[in-house]
Amino acid sequence: MAKSAFKTHHGMHDILPEESVQWQALEQIIRETARLFHFHEIRTPILEDTRLIARGVGELTDIVSKEMFAFNRGEDQYVLRPEGTASVARAFTQHHLDQRGGVQRLFYIGPMFRAERPQKGRQRQFHQFGVEVLGSAEPIADVESITFMLSVLQKIGLERFTLRLNSVGDVESRKAYKDALIAYFTPLKEQLSEVSQQRLTQNPMRILDSKKEEDQALVAQAPRITDYLNEDCSTHFEEVKRLLDGLEIAYTVDPLLVRGLDYYSKTAFEVSSPDLGAQDALGGGGRYDLLIEELGGKSTPAVGFACGMERLLIAAQEINKRLAEEPRPTVSLIPLGDRAKNWAIKALKELRSDGISATMHYTGSSMKAQMKQANRENAHYTLIVGDNELDSGALTLRDMDNSSESALNWTEVRTKLSKAN
Ligand code: HAM
Repeated sequence: MAKSAFKTHHGMHDILPEESVQWQALEQIIRETARLFHFHEIRTPILEDTRLIARGVGELTDIVSKEMFAFNRGEDQYVLRPEGTASVARAFTQHHLDQRGGVQRLFYIGPMFRAERPQKGRQRQFHQFGVEVLGSAEPIADVESITFMLSVLQKIGLERFTLRLNSVGDVESRKAYKDALIAYFTPLKEQLSEVSQQRLTQNPMRILDSKKEEDQALVAQAPRITDYLNEDCSTHFEEVKRLLDGLEIAYTVDPLLVRGLDYYSKTAFEVSSPDLGAQDALGGGGRYDLLIEELGGKSTPAVGFACGMERLLIAAQEINKRLAEEPRPTVSLIPLGDRAKNWAIKALKELRSDGISATMHYTGSSMKAQMKQANRENAHYTLIVGDNELDSGALTLRDMDNSSESALNWTEVRTKLSKAN
């Protein structure tokens, strides 16, 4: 049997050079937004303690119960992180970031892993950028998170998206709401899907998230969380909406928005795009005032969000073309003969130390082959160097955009290319 060549695992992708340019452009936009908002980068390990994720994200969520890439090694339990919030909450306590005073405003960019069924916009290794604001209970922190996300969407040129907003209440409001849901669904239990029947006893709010047709009709008539918020939650929610209105940010209140992670309290939000297909969530987030304490830290209110970077790039495909044009080298050196080649290797070093992007054909073959490579790389200039040029000191610099040529000495070449770079 013929040996088959190795391939990436299902749902895991290489990012090839032509795509990398788009990723870099997106990362640059995220970093620039972080600078404007004065958020600081945090980088946490890709492998976390499985118990951290189980406790943080919630044992009953799909992420923890079905989608973790986890393994044990000796006494230690490792999981490829499925999201970033639990890790940031852990780091906050581990490094006593609360003692630095004030509110911590953090952001991260990196790969996440969930063993989901791959489809367009859903991978097993995907990338998120996210922000977490730790140490503020103020509605303005929720709004800062939302405006950070929208600001990135706007900068990548996305215009068609919807922001859905909800409050999932605090422990007290949720208790009242869960009781109401149980009272509503129990007589209808037989009509619910099997999964939802299980959820009815374990975590009835998860039924609201069901994609099953038989559940959806019942969910449509179910009680709404917004009718069960206590005064604190309801005041907070009203203030978030008032601030968004003041900023003229359009949103719809969706009382069925529960999100797939268990740590939320009060505000929850999600942004979706009609350009994505079935997996239409560009990003989501919310407040998680109890998480840090739940993970063994001091009680610290917090809020944040994360966006799927693959999905941002899919939704922004048209813009990508504009965003990320293939980078062009400023100059491609065309040495003819061994002496010129030795000269060119040193010349490359000098050009690059001037900050000029410079390439050359490594095999130093015919002029025609070298010109062909310079064309393929879309170089702005070529510098043709043979024995004659080296003896006379007059080098031929060719402008590839208008085919004009000039004879210049080496200092003049460097000056001209520095200006063109
Ligand atoms: P999440 O809603 O689970 O939230 O994920 C955020 C975003 O990551 C989704 O809206 C989606 O764009 C992207 N995403 C999730 N799973 C996949 C996948 N399998 N393939 C491609 N993209 C995916 C969180 O992760 C929370 N940590 C957000 C947060 C931060 N909440 C508070 N702070």
